[in-house]
Amino acid sequence: MTVIITDSLKTALHDQIGHELLNSHIYLYISAFLKNMGLDNLGSIFEGQYKEEQGHANLFVKILTDLGAPVIIPQIEIVNMPFGSIEDIAKAFYDREVLTTENIDELKGLAIDEDNSIVEEFLRSMIVKQQAEMDEAISFMDKAKLTGNDWKVVMLWDLSEGK
Ligand SMILES: [Fe+2]
Repeated sequence: MTVIITDSLKTALHDQIGHELLNSHIYLYISAFLKNMGLDNLGSIFEGQYKEEQGHANLFVKILTDLGAPVIIPQIEIVNMPFGSIEDIAKAFYDREVLTTENIDELKGLAIDEDNSIVEEFLRSMIVKQQAEMDEAISFMDKAKLTGNDWKVVMLWDLSEGK
């Protein structure tokens, strides 16, 4: 087993920090979009997702600092998605989580190739989190489909999410 992180694994982990931060920005954007539609409770769900993704970015920073590797925060692209329907939002959420799961799985392959067990086990723990993320994204998509993309029905869904 090697403990030193190679340049290629380091760069891939830096990229993943940016990926998680972009996830957080996308969910913050969706939260604001829904709140501006008057759908505050659905907006709050994405505010929760935003915070979760920031937590994930922090964990990718931590695996690097724990191993004494330098951290680079990549540039995060602008988020401005014109959504026409609740299903558009559900699809953006689902696509992002699928991509995230695939990315982390690819990173795990890299860690295995480089015989870096610490990073490999860390990535397995991140994949475990993706099970819950996929569940949330698929459940949101199921409900979005039930609304038939009628904003009035989405409003009822929003009300049902009120605590
Ligand atoms: Fe994440």
